Amino acid sequence: MAGHVAVVGATGAVGQEFLRVLEQRNFPFEKITFMASARSAGKPITFKGKTHTVVELKEDSFKGVDIALFSAGGSTSKQFAPAAAAAGCVVVDNSSAFRMDPGVPLVVPEVNPEDIKQHKGIIANPNCSTIIMNVPVWPLHKVNPIKRIVVSTYQAVSGAGAWGLWELEEQIKAYVAGQPIVKNKFPHPIVNNLFCHNSKVAENGYNEEENKMVFETRKIFHAPTLLVTATCVRVPVPRAHSESINITFSKPITEQEVREILAGAPGVKIVDDRERNHFPMPLESSNQDDVLVGRIRQDISQPDGCGIEMFVSGDQLRKGAALNAVQIAELL
Ligand code: A2P
Repeated sequence: MAGHVAVVGATGAVGQEFLRVLEQRNFPFEKITFMASARSAGKPITFKGKTHTVVELKEDSFKGVDIALFSAGGSTSKQFAPAAAAAGCVVVDNSSAFRMDPGVPLVVPEVNPEDIKQHKGIIANPNCSTIIMNVPVWPLHKVNPIKRIVVSTYQAVSGAGAWGLWELEEQIKAYVAGQPIVKNKFPHPIVNNLFCHNSKVAENGYNEEENKMVFETRKIFHAPTLLVTATCVRVPVPRAHSESINITFSKPITEQEVREILAGAPGVKIVDDRERNHFPMPLESSNQDDVLVGRIRQDISQPDGCGIEMFVSGDQLRKGAALNAVQIAELL
């Protein structure tokens, strides 16, 4: 029993998913508090059939709170998570604020649950695209160590926050009505379009999302020299990220072996029907716990048999964020 649980950022896209996941998994607690900014203080939130009132997040909000699930952006986490940890609360933080801090465990429960034990009050929840890639790739890596991963993403707008979904919907309405497409927060129109992930492009030419996939995967896998390169793209899909993943293993591996390993892997569901051209799709991975994996095939450009191609789709608000964090809280 967790005692007192707080959801920080409860009014946001991930915050709302936290509510659904906590309810569906019947997460045990005695008391629950929903926090957001002053803008939302006083708003009602219905959870497990009861109406709660959102309270404003403040530095002294965590007295008596045992576990806080944070998803209110990096600057909010930087400001409030240390105060929460100092008050004796364990923070599971969905932002990137502490992920690469060597003193903070970065955890995907299907991959490195034992790292949780090292926490000093804060546990980081990885980036959504990283989690969705790591869940199916880790069981393969355990059997046949991976030398290199080349990943390309097709990322849903709700990964940017609740506003991303709103922006797509507004632009679809404008397009259908023949009105001009107004962009608001995304740097380009997202309807009828796709573009480089809307995070900052770093000095190495990779955007922040791509760098997260590289460096977070190395930390989670405890594989500091693992070769990973990523291209992250935002697409006009409401929910669930998809990824094309090309893997080079250290020894030859067949697609049949990959299928057998993934068939028994936690958090993975194989959707790979060549006859019907039915493979992982965001419409089918939305609101699902499992990462869908398909298009499993030998990489014909690697005659030594060490290359595998696959295509995955996973709900980035759920396994990519809220579910992963709640699984961490369950382990706690
Ligand atoms: P609010 O709704 O009051 O702005 P999303 O990722 O969907 O944009 O949601 C972000 C979440 O983080 C929202 O719940 C938002 O609350 C919350 N949030 C943003 N900034 C702060 C802040 N400074 N203090 C507390 N909560 C914040």
